[in-house]
Amino acid sequence: MNFAVNIGGIRMKNPVTTASGTFGYGREYAGFVDLNRLGAVVIKGVTLLPRPGNPTPRIAETPAGMLNSIGLENPGVEAVIEKHLPYLARFDVPVIVNIAGDTVDDYVKLASRLDKAPGVAGLEVNISCPNVKKGGLAFGSDPDTAAGVIREVRAATRLPLIAKLSPNVTDISAVAESVAGAGADAVSLINTLLGMVIDVNTGRPALASVMGGLSGPAVRPVAVRMVWQVYRAVNIPIIGMGGITCAEDALQFIMAGASAVAVGMASFVNPRATMEVLEGIEAYMRDNNVGDIKELIGIAHERS
Ligand SMILES: Cc1cc2nc3c(=O)[nH]c(=O)nc-3n(C[C@H](O)[C@H](O)[C@H](O)COP(=O)(O)O)c2cc1C
Repeated sequence: MNFAVNIGGIRMKNPVTTASGTFGYGREYAGFVDLNRLGAVVIKGVTLLPRPGNPTPRIAETPAGMLNSIGLENPGVEAVIEKHLPYLARFDVPVIVNIAGDTVDDYVKLASRLDKAPGVAGLEVNISCPNVKKGGLAFGSDPDTAAGVIREVRAATRLPLIAKLSPNVTDISAVAESVAGAGADAVSLINTLLGMVIDVNTGRPALASVMGGLSGPAVRPVAVRMVWQVYRAVNIPIIGMGGITCAEDALQFIMAGASAVAVGMASFVNPRATMEVLEGIEAYMRDNNVGDIKELIGIAHERS
């Protein structure tokens, strides 16, 4: 059976990756997961300078999911290059670095710095970040602003670029078309859905920063729907994510049009979730005489 997929120039031995921010820098899970078996490792979002993240509480449980407002806590790009990338280089797995910024210039500087760093297979551009120069509206919430970031980053690096799309938009297809036109080699979706929880005992929002991003099984039908729409809109590969806990969940994304899938919050509940998703996809293919994973990508469209 052939499980290999090519995501915009990143060769993966199978379609199972990790969702940024839920798998640390890989080493946190190395006691549970053989990192060599993953299709790729996507690491926590990195910014130019270290960030302490938002004040706590910054996690709240929700039905079938969680709300987070971590605020991109990370040690900054130089520490990631010095400390984390050399560790991951020991494994036979492509490493995708998720980048985040407050301005287009931040993204450009990160891309050109990481272009020169060893051990980077590609960049995932998190355009869900608030654009400081545009009053805090996320880069990814407008097709033109999203394309602007991707175009500038494209000019700054030869690395494969994955645009990570925000679901907090009216028309995700329009954003996908726009970033594809600007030079993205692939898209990944979805990032978290903006949400809020109020603690009725205090009468205050549960999160210190009031709103947060919803992830987990609660968002899965929204994410599958968006992958379906984006598959119809663009010809570049899609990495699907949002509430994947098992192979059946992952297969929904693949059948909707994703060439690869990322396991996010499920790894918090079950640190071996990525391996179980992978083994389940293998079992499904065996049971259904599917010789190549590519035969499954987008098949739900043919049948509807
Ligand atoms: C605690 C936490 C931290 C996250 N950090 C990032 C991040 O740094 N960059 C990013 O693009 N997405 C980040 N995400 C979003 C996930 O990568 C993913 O898009 C989202 O959680 C949906 O997948 P899931 O439902 O499987 O978790 C984070 C999600 C969680 C739960």
